[in-house]
Amino acid sequence: MNNEKTILCIGAGYVGGPTMAMLALKNPDYKVIVVDINSERIKAWNSENLPIYEPGLLEIVHRVRDKNLFFSTDIDNSIIEAHIIFVSVNTPTKTFGHGAGYASDLQYWEKTARQILKLSDSSKIIVEKSTLPVKTAQAMERILNSNEKGIIFDVLSNPEFLAEGTAIKDLENPDRVLVGSSETESGLRARDKIVQLYSSWIDNERILTSNVWSTELSKLTANAFLAQRISSINSISALCEETGANIHEVAHAVGTDSRIGQKFLDASVGFGGSCFKKDIFNLVYLCRHYGLDEVADYWESVVKMNEYQVERFVLKMLKSMFNTVTGKKIALFGFAFKANTGDTRESPAIYVTKKLLNEMANVAISDPKALENAKIELKDFKENVEYCSDPYVAAKNAHAIAVLTEWECYKTLDYKKIFASMEKPAFIFDGRNTLPHKELFEMGFNVIPLGMPELSHF
Ligand code: NAD
Ligand code: UGA
Repeated sequence: MNNEKTILCIGAGYVGGPTMAMLALKNPDYKVIVVDINSERIKAWNSENLPIYEPGLLEIVHRVRDKNLFFSTDIDNSIIEAHIIFVSVNTPTKTFGHGAGYASDLQYWEKTARQILKLSDSSKIIVEKSTLPVKTAQAMERILNSNEKGIIFDVLSNPEFLAEGTAIKDLENPDRVLVGSSETESGLRARDKIVQLYSSWIDNERILTSNVWSTELSKLTANAFLAQRISSINSISALCEETGANIHEVAHAVGTDSRIGQKFLDASVGFGGSCFKKDIFNLVYLCRHYGLDEVADYWESVVKMNEYQVERFVLKMLKSMFNTVTGKKIALFGFAFKANTGDTRESPAIYVTKKLLNEMANVAISDPKALENAKIELKDFKENVEYCSDPYVAAKNAHAIAVLTEWECYKTLDYKKIFASMEKPAFIFDGRNTLPHKELFEMGFNVIPLGMPELSHF
């Protein structure tokens, strides 16, 4: 028999862990269980060394763990016990068969749904937390309700909008929460239950309800729009470099139009992370499926522009360093796909490193939180890569530094000391435009920012 006040989350990753910690904190009368097939991950969630780095997360976990939040590998019994089941498993891009490279690989989701079906002996609310293609909830509801046990499953969509590095802030104070359901009596009742969970700390105006298809499509669209802004500003950074305009000034001028806004206009070496590319490809696949090729091409160009930007960055490094980096040491400052996370999935640093290794450079990688993940990403590259927790060690005897992640700590290093320890001429390629370029130039560095004139001693 299930318990109305027990919530289960299947998938203890970047979303499942923080989201459920917040839900447990704000709903102390509920018991929240988070399960995963990865026992190492669960062990880490039960330790002081959480499996993901996220500012503020450990403090919240300390407050609720083993009170009303539990991390476990006992998936079967947890499914039996829970009345509300969030599914937050990974939904990577399909690498095989029809739709390979674009469509979402739904095998983890469907396996989970079938496991729920097999073990349940009472009606449950299933909440799609993972990002999924439009109509997945409906398909899952059909699979689950094909049971002959006489029990009903309501499948809802409640996509997550947190960004890594600010997950706790985003969860505590979200711009909005979406809850989609079918508009049947039972679907609406289930929707109310999920809305109630969030309304214990979020105003009702920010909890938006709709049908499941709108909710699913809104999540894909939001990520596509965010990525599109970055590709747009990055495309203009290339034009700035040709014309002498300054991307920082252009972005500020454009962003002061209140209809456009200032956020997400930082030119960069490219966007990374596990979701933007995957979700855009998912959207592209859906559009092609419905014969909307022009729409698909439009969104696909956002990813193409991102690939162009990171390639352009490496080519600029090569060109500035006299068209060869062979045998030269290059220090990478940052490997995470953004600051304040150890996550390296789809990080532009992976591409930059591989390209530099291909050019026979020696790469010294530094990052305050992502070195372990960097080693996993580069496990096939044993030669000419070193990992340095100390950026001063990474830069020693290097010919160039490339800033790939906007970590605060890189802004306050002693660059005079670094300059003295480097080979000359010394270069800094700022893939995030976060360092004080003029000061560095005056110390003797050749500074190559993005979308701004180079500061060169030649
Ligand atoms: P993740 O890979 O960090 O975590 C997923 C977890 O699910 C893994 O630990 C995996 O072992 C587990 N899992 C897979 N199959 C399972 C099964 N059958 N039973 C139990 N556990 C299983 O992924 P994530 O970054 O947390 O993303 C999860 C979903 O949320 C994705 O759809 C993603 O698009 C979406 N999302 C992610 C973010 C983010 O910032 N990472 C933000 C919003 C939405
Ligand atoms: C993104 C969205 O912001 C979240 O709302 C969403 O929930 C999440 O994807 C998801 O679905 O996974 P995230 O990828 O964690 O979150 O981080 P972002 O802050 O969006 O940054 C993504 C990438 O864009 C990073 O590489 C970042 O450095 C880059 N970026 C961001 C820029 O290059 N310029 C900017 O102005 C902003």
